[in-house]
Amino acid sequence: MKKKEFTGSLNKKTVEQFHRLMPTSAVLNEEARKWLPGGDSRSTIHYFPYPQYFARGEGCWLWDADNRKSLDLTGNHTSLILGYNHPNVVKALREQLELGACFPGPTKPQVDLARILCERVPSIERVRFCNSGTEATMNAIRAARAFTGRHKVAKAEGAFHGTHDIMSVSIRPDPDSPDTGPAKNPKPVPHVAGIPGHTFDDAVIIPYNDPEGSRAVIEAPENAANLACVIIEPVMGAAGMIPAEREYLQTLKEICAKHNILLIFDEVITFRLALGGAQEFYEITPDLACFGKMLGGGLPLGAFGGSEKIMSLFDPVKHRGRPPVHHGGSLNANPMSLVAGIATLEQLTEETFLQLEKMGDSIRASLQELLDKHSSVPARVTGAGSLFAFHFLREPGKVTNYRETLPHDRELQELRHLIFLGLLDEGVVMDPRGAGCLSTAFGSEYLELFRRAFGRVLERINQENN
Ligand SMILES: Cc1ncc(COP(=O)(O)O)c(C=O)c1O
Repeated sequence: MKKKEFTGSLNKKTVEQFHRLMPTSAVLNEEARKWLPGGDSRSTIHYFPYPQYFARGEGCWLWDADNRKSLDLTGNHTSLILGYNHPNVVKALREQLELGACFPGPTKPQVDLARILCERVPSIERVRFCNSGTEATMNAIRAARAFTGRHKVAKAEGAFHGTHDIMSVSIRPDPDSPDTGPAKNPKPVPHVAGIPGHTFDDAVIIPYNDPEGSRAVIEAPENAANLACVIIEPVMGAAGMIPAEREYLQTLKEICAKHNILLIFDEVITFRLALGGAQEFYEITPDLACFGKMLGGGLPLGAFGGSEKIMSLFDPVKHRGRPPVHHGGSLNANPMSLVAGIATLEQLTEETFLQLEKMGDSIRASLQELLDKHSSVPARVTGAGSLFAFHFLREPGKVTNYRETLPHDRELQELRHLIFLGLLDEGVVMDPRGAGCLSTAFGSEYLELFRRAFGRVLERINQENN
């Protein structure tokens, strides 16, 4: 007898609906699982019963393996600020491919993109390129440790900064577990297996959007003199696009300055808030900043940078050929990623970001209105700029940190998944966790399509439950 497949919290009807919508994805997933654990290489986007396979994208539209066309609200999870296949990005990539995809030395596009970043982002005087957001935060943290000679690193509970050890802590902890500690003084909890024990001695967890709680943790005698850096996302993406309050970021900056701790902004997602990223949006400059996702225009690219003084740690010229921090990588600053990044950033102006924010405000207000009207469970829409997410709550309330998005209990998760699935049925792709983002490929007519689809899905779920 065939063993029953685990399908998360989905019921039989929902799984059947999935098979009906995307039969080819089912076949591909079945085949993929013979060769890849779980059938994929990205744990962060796995969902049950299996993921939709995509074949093509253009603007804000996606076609899946069954050639089903859908409106896309993910932009590959905030990576594509111009949408899919922007003609300038495609042209730049074609031209570069003709010349060569990688070389044993630096290329002009590296100089050009570095100049753009240094000119646009307030805190950046010098920058280095890598291949992902993970590498960017890993190198920025290493730089902070080398610069300060300290070992501890503080991050917010619920924040995701990539998959390296020190950041694989307290991403989605269970607050009901005694290991997780109280909301104002959370304890580091492993997010994955395989992290060496000493990592937890170095990880300090702060409560997001809680200036005084964070101050108490950072200034605790065992932390203040040992912290190399505080890394923070100005809008916490993984917990559901939760914007920081300006006062919170300002307080972190003051505490860090007081104790000679470096403040790192993880701008992997928030670079899409303004020409100069979240630091321009909030008018607060960190010591170091990390970039990824949209920076590469759809190709793998990360970057980290800061003042000339800190970044000179990587400079062999200033250190007689032996810089304190070695930063290698065979495909670092490969010209394919760089030209895609340049073509992307060249399309963005102050006006573009204002337009994205206006569309973001509009979609956030509409979703809140629809949820207030149709949802039997209290719901909150969060976000900033082109980013948005909705949260179902047990009690009406605000969402300013990870714990306020909880409980992620089965019933609420199922409801969120039903919306995700209902949207798929309507031809709309969204992050299954209820988050989304807009790109410059969106216009008011597409926002309206999304609004209507979202409303119909909520109405249908209501009817089915009554
Ligand atoms: C805020 C933030 N930082 C870092 C990362 C890691 O980036 P990458 O997936 O390119 O390694 C992510 C990825 O989702 C992210 O959202």
